[in-house]
Amino acid sequence: MGFFPSVSPILAGLDRQGVVAHGDDWDDCVVSAILNFSTAYGNGNLLKTNRKLIDYGALSTQAAYVFMYVAGHADFLFSVLQRGREEGAFDGLDQDEIRVTSIGGGPGSDLLALVRLLRTLRPDERPRLVKYRVLDKQPNWHEILLTVAESQRGTIDIEVSFQSIDVTDPDTWHGAGCKNDDLLIMNFFVSEVCKLREAASVKKCLKKLLGSVRTDATVVFNDSNFPSCYKYFDDRVESVGGYARLVSESLRLDANPDFDEYFRDCMARFGRTPKLGSNAAYRVLKKK
Ligand SMILES: C[S@@+](CC[C@H](N)C(=O)[O-])C[C@H]1O[C@@H](n2cnc3c(N)ncnc32)[C@H](O)[C@@H]1O
Repeated sequence: MGFFPSVSPILAGLDRQGVVAHGDDWDDCVVSAILNFSTAYGNGNLLKTNRKLIDYGALSTQAAYVFMYVAGHADFLFSVLQRGREEGAFDGLDQDEIRVTSIGGGPGSDLLALVRLLRTLRPDERPRLVKYRVLDKQPNWHEILLTVAESQRGTIDIEVSFQSIDVTDPDTWHGAGCKNDDLLIMNFFVSEVCKLREAASVKKCLKKLLGSVRTDATVVFNDSNFPSCYKYFDDRVESVGGYARLVSESLRLDANPDFDEYFRDCMARFGRTPKLGSNAAYRVLKKK
């Protein structure tokens, strides 16, 4: 089972708002935002030194991101979480509540993957409540995250909070930490910030967050398999010290293309197929 049917209602909500705001031009706005992503993410552009931040503020950009990436990114991360589970990374989740932080968590791919993982656990192995916090630059994702959390109602209660931080601006992150978290997730985040102009701030921020993680907590990293990206992450981990590597792999990950009718309709309208494969590099670490 993949994630496309779970993403459809989120995309439909953005689609409705887009039609109200842009009328007949809406589909063209989304297509142009999809093309901008291909340029921004393609040909190793993310890793060009001193490039500018990607701006996720516009409604069309958000709809394009949700359409193209959310289901795939959730599926890839779910595979990584399952690998972590095989290595015992999630043995201690049988608590009343757990706290999870996703840095660069965006519109909810990481949350969808986490909830799917928890649903694979027996009731006596999983928490009743997940306190899920996103640290991200784009405050517009908060509303979408709340919709994602609402759509997952049932087995597990989710409390979503959002803290707007920009890792390139120390004034926004100096108070942030992860000392209460059981799990810290970075899914397709490091590639986006590891080559930015404000390199010193980004490094310090990641070092601070990784350094604040408490003993026995888990850190999950998943990104594209570019050495300059995963080495960047590995270097930050090494500079902090005290982590055991439960999983450290590079592998092709494929998403289940379980498109529903709504997604098929959007694929016809936008003339694109969402991302279904990732040449991935991922890590699951435990703080010792
Ligand atoms: C490629 S998206 C990944 C989102 C989600 N984790 C996923 O896999 O679908 C990158 C995320 O990083 C956030 N981001 C980009 N630059 C940032 C910065 N300087 N500080 C904090 N967050 C940033 C974006 O808003 C976006 O949510």
